[in-house]
Amino acid sequence: MSNTLAFQLEDVSKQFGELTAVSAVDLQIPQGQRVALVGPSGAGKSTLLGLLNGTHLPDRGRVCVLGHDLATLNTQQLRNTQQKIGTIYQQFHLVDNLAVVHNVNAGQLGRWSFWQAAWSLIRPLNTDAAYEALIRVGIPEKLYERTGQLSGGQQQRVAIARVLVQNPDVILADEPIASLDPERAREIMNLLSELAQEMGKTLIVSVHAIEFAYSHFERIIGLRNGRVLFDAPATAVSPDMVRDLYQLTP
Ligand SMILES: Nc1ncnc2c1ncn2[C@@H]1O[C@H](COP(=O)(O)OP(=O)(O)OP(=O)(O)O)[C@@H](O)[C@H]1O
Ligand SMILES: [Mg+2]
Repeated sequence: MSNTLAFQLEDVSKQFGELTAVSAVDLQIPQGQRVALVGPSGAGKSTLLGLLNGTHLPDRGRVCVLGHDLATLNTQQLRNTQQKIGTIYQQFHLVDNLAVVHNVNAGQLGRWSFWQAAWSLIRPLNTDAAYEALIRVGIPEKLYERTGQLSGGQQQRVAIARVLVQNPDVILADEPIASLDPERAREIMNLLSELAQEMGKTLIVSVHAIEFAYSHFERIIGLRNGRVLFDAPATAVSPDMVRDLYQLTP
């Protein structure tokens, strides 16, 4: 683990109209740490992840990613920084009609020219990298299969392979197991945390199943109404803290 911070947030807020989705959040996440984001529906987990990867810009405060204040970057610098963040979503965000190899290679798009990207749809470039990534996620035999034909768990593996090909410093995942059965969910969580540890990547994952937050992460951040209710090592998060987090009264 290096001393560089993957993320530094200072007094960050994000509004959607009148609604404050993320409110006055201060956060420091060192490189290489594995962090779970938990909290009830609407707490602001997805919005916070969007602030971390530059999908959202804060209305107030500062978001620094790998030492760069996102608000001060020009378009090219922002793109370069975003290339160092890989994001995985609940619904995989893959193109169903394309072969797996193309979806995995989409992890390269930030580095490829337009013509390289266009040509790769006719004749896949860098098939080796895609194949290697698929070996790491356990489905190398699916390289040329149509993505839409794969099961949910397999598609999430393709999404992870795409992030491996991107080779970012940070992996964000927004409810990556929400559409999977319990056994597939465990497999994907194991895979994500093993890959992150093996490669020294920062991993930040929003999860609804609190048991996974305990079992796979060093640190748990509890969000509620856009605010950080607790932020502690997983070993220090008590059942009472979790109960308070999910209580319905504000
Ligand atoms: N694009 C948007 N436009 C307007 N409101 C939004 C938008 N995105 C999120 N919100 C609102 O911001 C609040 C936080 O939403 P967010 O999606 O971050 O919560 P969440 O913790 O990810 O919830 P869930 O567990 O259901 O995914 C919610 O009240 C939501 O309705
Ligand atoms: Mg969400």
